[in-house]
Amino acid sequence: MDELHAYRKLAKYYDVIYSFKNYKKESNDITRLISKYKKSKGNMLLDVGCGTGKHIQYLKLKYKCAGTDLNGEMLAIARKNIKGVEFKRRNMMNLNLNERFDVITCLFSAIGYLKTSDQLKRTFGGFYRHLNPGGICIIDAWFDKSRWHVGSVHMRAYDYAGLKIARIGYSSIHGNMSVLDEHYVIAEKNKGVTDVADKSELRLTERKEFIRLLKDVGFSPILLKGAIMGRDRYVGIKQ
Ligand SMILES: C[S@@+](CC[C@H](N)C(=O)[O-])C[C@H]1O[C@@H](n2cnc3c(N)ncnc32)[C@H](O)[C@@H]1O
Repeated sequence: MDELHAYRKLAKYYDVIYSFKNYKKESNDITRLISKYKKSKGNMLLDVGCGTGKHIQYLKLKYKCAGTDLNGEMLAIARKNIKGVEFKRRNMMNLNLNERFDVITCLFSAIGYLKTSDQLKRTFGGFYRHLNPGGICIIDAWFDKSRWHVGSVHMRAYDYAGLKIARIGYSSIHGNMSVLDEHYVIAEKNKGVTDVADKSELRLTERKEFIRLLKDVGFSPILLKGAIMGRDRYVGIKQ
């Protein structure tokens, strides 16, 4: 399984880098969607591409949660921080778990790392097969071409006692892949300064294609435009 460079090198800083995200509020929004659309009776939830488990930390108060991710380093942090939840290393394209769930979440654009339409279809098919009838998937998309700002630059600084991080990025495009060229300079007390450079590619999938692929595998899809950080969210219902 090929881990993504960024999440291997930066796993231990991930929760700092995304400390601006309100995971508690996001998890409450997810809970509301589940109450609205889920018809199955159970409360088994699988978070795919769970990262360090920040949503599970809240969702586990209401659901019996499990998490999967491609990156061992991210999972190690999840396992350390969240007790009583099973985390498994899986590529979302080959879930192959011997369990069925009532909810499958795939949040914060983890789905964007899939590179082709076939990979998306295969993954959605896996979500469908791992759900009970009446269950739902909730997928947070990456951008599509019309919402991707080619040539834009970004900067963020993280200023903690004993830890300073500067993150600088440039956005470009290559075919239907968005390219994020990001450089991190990390200074840690009594350790020194490290540079981490990362080039990530995330697929720019159009809404029509996303909906078609969800329908192809059997889901009744609902599109929630710009629902999360300006990105679309899809709910797929398994009748
Ligand atoms: C932006 S992070 C989101 C993590 C978490 N869901 C959150 O909201 O903080 C994307 C995650 O997707 C995982 N990922 C990327 N491609 C994957 C794949 N093919 N299968 C499983 N996980 C994958 C990465 O390892 C990373 O942990």
